[in-house]
Amino acid sequence: MSLSPPPPRVDHELLGRLRADLERSAYTVESVSALLGPLAVRALAREQVLPAQRVTAQAGTPVATLVRLFALGDAVDAEDASSALPTLGLDGATRLGLVRGQGPGVVASCDLRPYGEEGAAWWVASDLSEIATRAPLHEDHVLGIGGASTTLASWTPRPEVDRALDVGTGSGVQALHLGAHAAQVTVTDISGRALAFARFNAALNGCNWDVRQGSMLAPLAGERFQLIVSNPPFVITPRTPEMPLFEYRDGGAAGDAVVADLVRSIGEHLQPGGIAQFLGNWEIVGGADWRERVRGWVAGTGLDAWVVQREVQDPAEYAETWARDGGHHSATTEFATMYAAWLDDFASRGVTAVGFGVITLQRPAAPREPFLDLDEASGPVAAPMGPHILAGLRARTWLAEHSDEDLLGVAWRCADDVTEERHGRPGQEHPAVILLRQGGGLRRAVRLDTAGAALVSVCDGTLPAGVAVDAIAELLETDSDVLRAQLPPMLRGLVADGLLV
Ligand SMILES: C[S@@+](CC[C@H](N)C(=O)[O-])C[C@H]1O[C@@H](n2cnc3c(N)ncnc32)[C@H](O)[C@@H]1O
Repeated sequence: MSLSPPPPRVDHELLGRLRADLERSAYTVESVSALLGPLAVRALAREQVLPAQRVTAQAGTPVATLVRLFALGDAVDAEDASSALPTLGLDGATRLGLVRGQGPGVVASCDLRPYGEEGAAWWVASDLSEIATRAPLHEDHVLGIGGASTTLASWTPRPEVDRALDVGTGSGVQALHLGAHAAQVTVTDISGRALAFARFNAALNGCNWDVRQGSMLAPLAGERFQLIVSNPPFVITPRTPEMPLFEYRDGGAAGDAVVADLVRSIGEHLQPGGIAQFLGNWEIVGGADWRERVRGWVAGTGLDAWVVQREVQDPAEYAETWARDGGHHSATTEFATMYAAWLDDFASRGVTAVGFGVITLQRPAAPREPFLDLDEASGPVAAPMGPHILAGLRARTWLAEHSDEDLLGVAWRCADDVTEERHGRPGQEHPAVILLRQGGGLRRAVRLDTAGAALVSVCDGTLPAGVAVDAIAELLETDSDVLRAQLPPMLRGLVADGLLV
């Protein structure tokens, strides 16, 4: 039984009027952040609404009314709401399921906010957040735009494709992005409420998605795509009666099985050369290396894999994060019960930590040995990361298809965002450490030895690497065959990460 309000309805005529009002009032990412200002924006990120309530109450503009109503969950005077939605009117907004009367005013039945990046401007409806309702979320809650949503959107490689798929679309955030570079977008979700929001958002933003209801890949039998993305319900959740099972984050399996299954089964839905990208958690058991677990998921799939672990939490940190996420405060009994259930669940499998990261998979375009790159990057990275992921996939593909001899035959060029740092003890003639530092991408810092540094220093795109290696061998009075065997692993690493192009 759903405790949440009914999702909004699709009525194209009313949606046209809503769109006209949102455009006229300039309900955009830019105008909302200009209205709120940095103080209120930062406070909202800490789940504090008061600064935003003060700013919007004082402003009294249509944008301020829309923010109060649809983002902060405040009751608004009927007159103010009418003037913020003059074309749609309160009657139209009620019929769409966006608002309902409350005393002399109106309150929102859902969240509705502008969203976009790099020239794209959309509006996204979802359930009201716990900040707006000031209460824990219902189990059938449909997520708005969260941190994980924007992480995936930022990391997604975006080649022009015919067919793209979003698994577990929720309110359709990833699908909005896919529409910018895919001729056809298919979305799936197990939740009928989520798909109602997705249909509403597709219609509001003039998109046409192929919407399928069902669990994970079940509604897609026999179908293949060039690009698949998923911010799946990856949260590891104890299967105990006291745990609320939030549809938006719990895929219904024990441990990290949802993500493992997705990795193991996605290959049959990828066209040759097709790319899949997911966020995920993985359990680290008994202090083992996380790579062993993820390597096991990928083994035998025939897919290329590039996995970047971004964060590691211990069981207590994980339990605190996700017990809080549903809107439960740490002083409550519910919070303590969930916390204990998480600790017991992890202990039962010997889990000592949980990794979080981005999994990018590719079906090789032609038969060959797949590549596997299990990487760590915990600091800030480029935003968006997608272009770097696409370039990195292409570089890794080239490396998988070419020998060290081929590698040494290329005239590599040091990428424009790369700088060199030399560190040494004061007074020392030669540097003790030579570091290459990448400005963009994963912001790599790579330590080089003397021969490596000498090679990179002549990588200007004119001299084949092998010729440079022979000259360096002569200079260092080393056997050039030894250097030709020694340098390719380093060269491959620099090419894979985009320091050499
Ligand atoms: C973390 S949300 C992601 C929502 C949205 N794609 C985003 O990026 O913000 C996960 C979504 O998966 C859906 N979901 C949960 N269990 C599922 C299952 N077994 N099969 C398909 N979708 C599922 C939820 O309803 C929810 O919409």
